[in-house]
Parts: sequence; structure tokens; C-alpha cells
Amino acid sequence: MARKTILSGMRPTGKLHLGNYVGVLANWIKLQDEYRCFFEIADWHAVTTEYERTREIAADSMEVAIDWLSAGIDPAKSVVFVQSEVKEHAELHLLLSMLVTVARLERNPTLKEQARDLELGENITYGHLGYPVLQAADIMMYKADAVPVGEDQLPHLEITREIARRFNGLYGEVFPIPEPLLTEFPRLPGLDTRRMSKSLGNAVLISDPAEVIAKKVAGAITDPEKIHMGDAGHPDICTVYAYHRRFNGQAVGEIRAGCVAGTRGCVKCKKEVAAAISDCLRPIRERRAELEADLGGVRRVLDAGAGAAREVARATMADVRRSMALGR
Ligand code: TRP
Repeated sequence: MARKTILSGMRPTGKLHLGNYVGVLANWIKLQDEYRCFFEIADWHAVTTEYERTREIAADSMEVAIDWLSAGIDPAKSVVFVQSEVKEHAELHLLLSMLVTVARLERNPTLKEQARDLELGENITYGHLGYPVLQAADIMMYKADAVPVGEDQLPHLEITREIARRFNGLYGEVFPIPEPLLTEFPRLPGLDTRRMSKSLGNAVLISDPAEVIAKKVAGAITDPEKIHMGDAGHPDICTVYAYHRRFNGQAVGEIRAGCVAGTRGCVKCKKEVAAAISDCLRPIRERRAELEADLGGVRRVLDAGAGAAREVARATMADVRRSMALGR
């Protein structure tokens, strides 16, 4: 049987953090052997909120590409491309925008959250409202069967599924209804226990050198009730323990026991986990250094990716126009 297709993407926000790696990227890397994969740097999606600062988007896209490739996204297995380099996305977005109501888009919980966080009030643009429609175009363009994403993207994927069903119902079966593929590993907390986010300033970057990791982790918030070395800790609410679980798997039993018994102190615990994180990221940092020295090579990967993506996109758009009886 032919391999199933997946597409996923990230908005280019610059260098990626450990939460992006654990939650999404590590999963993509595994999926490369099982699926036909398309990985997109969604630079047009970035414009929905960054339209006043568009100058940084191209450089941020390069940083994301470098992080992906150094972490193990393999261009020999997967198509890696920048959204704005495949113009067909704009055409499909336009046509799909006719198949969803404004009311439906206004009900999107992610939009409501962003409007609140960014204090947008009445200032949501037409394009920002259409964010999930552009995302639907990304996914449907490659006739993706599945979309590996974090839970936060489920509302968007639901809109894609509705649009795909609507298209098929009106014009014939052109698109699969894509399924979400969630990671098993729970979301990694940030250094201050909130969700990890660069803008919150609580993130370890996957490109951080060992000393920076050690320093950041040393400042992490642990169990607030464990003040002295001899105090019993509560590993389940501790950020540092969450990191141990992900990066120091073999030792977690002993660490938990020591923490609960009050024989293990936080300083030692942080040093150990910083070392484990740093070991895990070392090969990624080394590949990053190589890629940074060969930006032309990264550019060539993206050019080839855009070429491969475009070929699929052209075929899909021909199907779309034919089923809608548009054009000649
Ligand atoms: N909305 C996604 C995010 O914020 C990025 C994205 C754009 C995406 N297009 C996509 C994710 C298509 C999955 C599939 O991370």
C-alpha cells in the first residue's frame, strides 16, 4: 500500500526551544520513516500578526530551517519548504475562503485567545480571521491524510476537516479528511512552570550552548515547598523533574525517591538535568554549526523543497479547478 501523507508546519518565530523540540519536532523526525512528509515554514501565517514587522520574517524562516535540519529533519526523506515560495497556497486559500462562514471563524477559540493576549479588540484583520483557512490550504494542497501537531492546533484542524468535507460534498471527492496525529509526550513546562515560550522568556533554546543551559536551568522554579535540602519535594509539580523525565529517563526512579525522601537537593538535581539536556542537544548543536557555515546549502534544500512541493501543488490545483469547473 502507498505510504500515507502528512503535512505539518510552524510559524517562523526564530530559533526553536526545547518545548518545540519535545512536543513537535521529535515526533516529525520519527514519522519521516513511515510517511510521505511535507514540512512547511509558514511565513505567510506569521504575517497575520507581524504585518508591521515583516522584515524579520525571512531571517527567522532561515533559523527555523537550520533548527529543523540540525535536529534531524532529513531532506532526503521529507519535503521541507517555505510557504510563500509555493504561490498555489494563495489560490487555494482564496477558493477555500468561500466555503467557510465568518461566524465559524469568529468562533475559533485560538483566535479569541490571541485577540485577548494581543489586546486586538476590534482590530483583527480579515487575513488574521482567515488564518485557519490558510492552514486548511496548506494541509489540503498535499492531500494530507494526517497532521502531526500539538493539542493547541486541534481547533484549526477541525476547521480544515469541515472545509474539506464541504469541498468534497459540493464538487466531488478530491480531498482526504485529515486526522490529527498527537505526540504521546506531555508538553514540557517552561523554566518558570508556565508553558514554554520564547516571548515569556522562560525557554531553553535547542541551539543554546551548554553553559547557557546550565545557567537557565539553575534558575528554574522547583517545588516552592522544598526550601532546604532535607525538605521532602513533590516531583509531580516540579519543572526540573519534568525535564528529568524527558531527558534522563533511566534515572527518574531514583531521582523521584531521593526528592520525596528529602535526600536529594535541587541544586544537584538541576546540575544533573542540565547535563542530560546538554548531552541530548550536543549533536544538534554540532550540526547547527556546520549548517551555519553553509547557508548556501540550507538555501538549496529549501529551493529543492519548494520545487517538489510546487509540483504536487500544481497537480492539486488542476484537480481543484477541474472539479469546480473553473477556467478552461
Ligand atoms: N498554525 C501552526 C502553528 O501555529 C502553523 C501551521 C501553519 C500549520 N500551517 C500548518 C500546522 C499546517 C500544521 C499544518 O504552529
